[in-house]
Amino acid sequence: MGIPLGVEDYRRLARRRLPRIVFDYIEGGADDESGLARNRHALDALLLDPARLTDVSVRKQAISLGGKPADAPLVIAPMGLNGACRPDGDVALARAAARAGIPFTLSTASNVALEDVARRAGGRLWFQLYVVHREHARALAADYEALVLTTDVTVNGRRERDLRNGFAVPFRLTPRIVLDASLHPAWTVRQLRHGLPTLPNVEAGPGGDASVQAALLQRRMDAGFCWDDFAALRDAWPRRLYVKGVLNARDAARCMALGADGVIASNHGGRQLADLPAPVDVLPGIRAAIGEATLMVDSGFRNGRDVVKALARGANAVMLGRAVLYGLAARGEAGVDDVLAMFKADIDRTLALIGCPDVALLGARLHG
Ligand SMILES: Cc1cc2nc3c(=O)[nH]c(=O)nc-3n(C[C@H](O)[C@H](O)[C@H](O)COP(=O)(O)O)c2cc1C
Repeated sequence: MGIPLGVEDYRRLARRRLPRIVFDYIEGGADDESGLARNRHALDALLLDPARLTDVSVRKQAISLGGKPADAPLVIAPMGLNGACRPDGDVALARAAARAGIPFTLSTASNVALEDVARRAGGRLWFQLYVVHREHARALAADYEALVLTTDVTVNGRRERDLRNGFAVPFRLTPRIVLDASLHPAWTVRQLRHGLPTLPNVEAGPGGDASVQAALLQRRMDAGFCWDDFAALRDAWPRRLYVKGVLNARDAARCMALGADGVIASNHGGRQLADLPAPVDVLPGIRAAIGEATLMVDSGFRNGRDVVKALARGANAVMLGRAVLYGLAARGEAGVDDVLAMFKADIDRTLALIGCPDVALLGARLHG
């Protein structure tokens, strides 16, 4: 393959560079993976409505997000085990986000401690909280500007690829996995040099909680977490609080009534339950329910045209998941830089081609 021209090229490179078990962990969807396909179909089905003879000699994609400027309507989504993709993957993603002028969301299940990411990467940092891990004081102390509460992992989704491959954390070195690793020597040498990924945000030790770590390792969440707990979390966290995994106007309105700063329409990239709507399809209803509040979306976004469509449907910004991981797996930090630059260039070109000088003016620019 020559120079990667888009996210699909990076996906192919990532598939080559990663052991099958790691690529499948990133790529896989829940159940029969029909949710993955639905996320893409929903975006592909939307068409744009160009306004001709509009002055687009100057175009703006910078926005205000969470009360601060962002250079593009993009955020890096929280992803656990980025270190399986590349050692120090969390720091690489955070640094690339900082360079691109967009926020980075660190997962509870990151492989670099949240304090170390803050110290080494800088930039705008958000912290994602799984409900098993109600302790957020560290994120506050380390100056994370927002908390993203993930609500769609009451239990772990059923991912057949992971079941077939024997994917588990900590990694079990079965003969098949050793063979898989030996076929990907560059990945294996990097991992061996660095040591296999751990979960330092929830590590047992002084102040750590062994039961929380065990639960997170097995992705056993607190399925009892409900609205009262959310209200308590809202009281306890003084900065921005976004709720991730919302898929209808009813829940979005309730989040806002309880003091959320915004919601993220998401089906976890199709990784939890196949039979859920594509988030881009629920945007208009949620927008109507929450007025001007911050509305973000993710799941299936692979180019800037997708982003423009979501903004035209009412989103303020899009979270990128697998797209940036492909860049990370293929070329490390430089690959993430490149993927983010491609998104920005794509957004800019699309604005020009539909006659829209500013992403803030995208409302009602969809065909039909
Ligand atoms: C490898 C991987 C790990 C993920 N881990 C988390 C996580 O720890 N917390 C979370 O809220 N979402 C997690 N997600 C979901 C993402 O935040 C996001 O919702 C999803 O990736 C968006 O879909 P996309 O990958 O199609 O862009 C993960 C997604 C992937 C691909």
